[in-house]
This record gives sequence, structure tokens and C-alpha cells, in this order.
Amino acid sequence: MPSVVFVSPSGARQELVFDRPTSAMQVARSHGVAGIEAECGGALSCGTCHVYVDEADTGRLAVASEQESDMLDLVAAERKATSRLCCQIELSDQLDGLVLHVPETQF
Ligand code: FES
Repeated sequence: MPSVVFVSPSGARQELVFDRPTSAMQVARSHGVAGIEAECGGALSCGTCHVYVDEADTGRLAVASEQESDMLDLVAAERKATSRLCCQIELSDQLDGLVLHVPETQF
């Protein structure tokens, strides 16, 4: 089965499998990944599901929508070129092995 990897600020890696198309946020929440708060449940209105996409994977994702980009302006941790909101990352077989880094804070 395909998987997605979350890396904590301390460098700890959690590889999580998923068995159907879903968002990276939903996978993180269902496995209790620390630091993915996702307070709005994926409604694109909280910015607390911020992640940094691994440099090696940035080209695998579609560009962020204007609405996502606007919300990224409001995240608590530094916004970087690799910043995304993981509720907007739709996982499928094509993104098997995607690596996402959790920022130091969401608030
Ligand atoms: Fe709120 Fe992603 S869960 S913006």
C-alpha cells in the first residue's frame, strides 16, 4: 500500500500507509501525528495543518490554489517556498512515499 512520511521537528519519521485516496491531513489526524492540529477539519480556514514538503518532493505536487496560498500567509511558523497546507494535499498511489516535515508550531 502507498504511504506518506511525516517528519517531526526533531527529525523523527512516521511512515503511514493509506488504502484509498485521502488527504495528508486526514492520514495525520487518524494516526495522531503530533503538530498537525487541523482545527478546521480541512475547510481551509485555520492554517494549522501547515507542513513543509521535502525538497525532493516539491515537483510532485500541483501548485497551491490561490485560497491555499492566502491561508499560508497566516500560518504561525515561517512560510517557506515548500510550505503547504496538508489538508489540501490529496494522496493517491502517485504520491507514494511523499515526505512532509511538521513545523515547530501551528499557533
Ligand atoms: Fe484547516 Fe487545513 S485543516 S486549513
